[in-house]
Amino acid sequence: MKKIFCLFLSLAVLFTSARADEGMWLLPLIQKMNAKTMKDMGCKLTPEEIYSINNSSLKDAVVQFGGGCTGEIISAEGLLVTNHHCGYSSIQKLSSEDHNYLEDGYWAMESSEEIPVPGLTVTFLQKMTDVTGMLSKLRKESLKQYKDSTNKIELADSVVEAERKNLVEQAEKDNEGCHAEIEQFYNGNVFYLIIYKKYKDVRFVGAPPASIGKFGGETDNWMWPRHTGDFSMFRVYAGKDNEPAEYSVDNVPYKPKDHLKISLNGVNNGDFTMIMGYPGRTQRFQTASQLEEMITVHDIRIAARDLRQGIMLKFMEADPAIRLKYANKYAGSANGYKKWIGEKKAFGNLGIIDEEKGKEAAFTKWVNARKSRKEKYGQALQNISESVDNSIAAEKSLVLLDESIANIELIGLSSNFNGAFKKAVKNGQDTSAALQTAYDAIKGYYKDYYEPLDRKEASALLSFYKDNASPDCYLDLGGDFKNMDVDAYVKNMFDNSVFTSGQKLKNAISEDNEKVFKDPARDFIKAIIGIGMKLIMEETAEDDTLQQNSRIYTAGLMEWNKGKKSYPDANFTMRLTYGTVKPYSPKDAVTYRSYTTMKGIMEKEDSTNYEFKVPSKLKKLYEAKDFGQYARKDGRMPICFLTNNDITGGNSGSPVMNGNGELIGLAFDGNWESMSSDVMFEPELQRCICVDIRYVLFLIDKYGGAGYLVKEMDLVQ
Ligand code: ARG
Repeated sequence: MKKIFCLFLSLAVLFTSARADEGMWLLPLIQKMNAKTMKDMGCKLTPEEIYSINNSSLKDAVVQFGGGCTGEIISAEGLLVTNHHCGYSSIQKLSSEDHNYLEDGYWAMESSEEIPVPGLTVTFLQKMTDVTGMLSKLRKESLKQYKDSTNKIELADSVVEAERKNLVEQAEKDNEGCHAEIEQFYNGNVFYLIIYKKYKDVRFVGAPPASIGKFGGETDNWMWPRHTGDFSMFRVYAGKDNEPAEYSVDNVPYKPKDHLKISLNGVNNGDFTMIMGYPGRTQRFQTASQLEEMITVHDIRIAARDLRQGIMLKFMEADPAIRLKYANKYAGSANGYKKWIGEKKAFGNLGIIDEEKGKEAAFTKWVNARKSRKEKYGQALQNISESVDNSIAAEKSLVLLDESIANIELIGLSSNFNGAFKKAVKNGQDTSAALQTAYDAIKGYYKDYYEPLDRKEASALLSFYKDNASPDCYLDLGGDFKNMDVDAYVKNMFDNSVFTSGQKLKNAISEDNEKVFKDPARDFIKAIIGIGMKLIMEETAEDDTLQQNSRIYTAGLMEWNKGKKSYPDANFTMRLTYGTVKPYSPKDAVTYRSYTTMKGIMEKEDSTNYEFKVPSKLKKLYEAKDFGQYARKDGRMPICFLTNNDITGGNSGSPVMNGNGELIGLAFDGNWESMSSDVMFEPELQRCICVDIRYVLFLIDKYGGAGYLVKEMDLVQ
């Protein structure tokens, strides 16, 4: 056991990316891998002060915010800050035309004005334990035990699977109120048992208006120079015992084990910065064939979203009520859309695939130089490439389906209803109770639904599908699919479906069940599911081969790079990245400064463009230079700054800290010139865009008039 354990540990500890500042590091390994470099770069904290499982440490102040962002606790009373775009869906959900917190902003002026957000959670990491050695030993022993069986691999895998379950159950028993997960790293070469505690009473404290929190809109998204006040605030509540509790008026502000201090001193070029948070997904171990597949599929996504967003935008621009309903759906779609366009561009500009091919050629040369390596790793790249070839057609068709007809909201409503209904019946409810349960499950969605918009989208998306689908993916709608009259079909479906409004559905449930069961949307879904299932089967047929060979290829890379440090792909587990404040040169003769000031907001102002409106109160504060204690030493108001920290989606809202671990900003974006960053780090070009904490505090205090919140924080001058 010890030997295997040491082998894995040494692999994990020794392989490295050669480039400085690249890396989304695992917290339990920073002592071994990063402490010295961090210290040399200006970090004053010990690894124990950053990540400790026995004492409070920075990791206790950094949280998963909802399902896809990071947040940080900045007071002893559970006050939390994250990005505006991370709080966006919650703020939108709480808004109505009368109380439009997205458009107008909001500040609770006392605790009774903090607004509960149903469904929003905040999750704290308790600890991470490497269980790789234990699981590999078990697998090895099981293989030995079943060596005479024809299905020894399956048997050994099931023993390991049972032990994984066991470890999770035991961990949850030993850590009350927590949940545990086993996550794989390095494409299945390393495993950690991770324990989390999730708080479920999270309340909205405040945010600037969208004209500040989303200043620059989609035009500036993914780009520098930037002037966005991308932050929002929440508070975590707990039961009287400080443990997670469902919402209750009796709950009290959560007392965190640790919270971040806030520095008003700012940073300069070259200063040390570190970011902790939850990066979602990177593909830094993917092969050239996988990258080629990824980038080809982008074209379908981009075209479908272009179509859909065009329709949404038209409706949104025509009516503020629709803008509010669709704000979150639009932002989410547009963010991915622009990311894929940028990624594709960067792939070309930076020659990403050729670089990957070069790396693979060098790797293959190393593999072929020794027989034992050839046996272990010699086939992996070829096998991956064949798997990709075998599944690419299905993948393209699935993406087409997913980005087009699966995005028709009526389809989502109807299929969610069906799912909830079936589940209720399975749980023993009779038909009428189950119909009611299913109705309750989807009724909230109608608040943000606008039938004419969805109808329009449905026609466009079904046409798009029809024009682009391969013949084996034609929908069985009872006629000649390729020559169908899409508009007539959609008209009939929308005219006759009970799912186009909450009221219609409610009436049908109480008056005429048959209408629900014979709804035209259900036939359409049936046809989609038929094709979808077929495609998923085709695609997953390659999963095992792909996973197995990715694991082998990654293990090969690790051996090839033995002696250097390494970090695994992002997988929404907590990581640390360190670097410095740094300007960059996006193209010949152009250099971008590493920070922006409020002057830039005024330069970008365009009262005729929704994305670049500047609230008059902000203008007044600017003109009066009324920046309070938050200005730079030279009197200007800082807005955003750049670092070369290595982040990706999921890091949004992450604390950017100085060498003392004090908060200096919030990470919120990447930059256009390095949009390929999820697959390859670009030291010269890749930057992390952060909002300066001094602008955040200025907005809370001077703009929002909620200075009482600043008093709750620990400011360092
Ligand atoms: N690009 C940012 C990210 O992926 C999201 C910014 C949201 N803003 C927007 N204009 N859609 O984290």
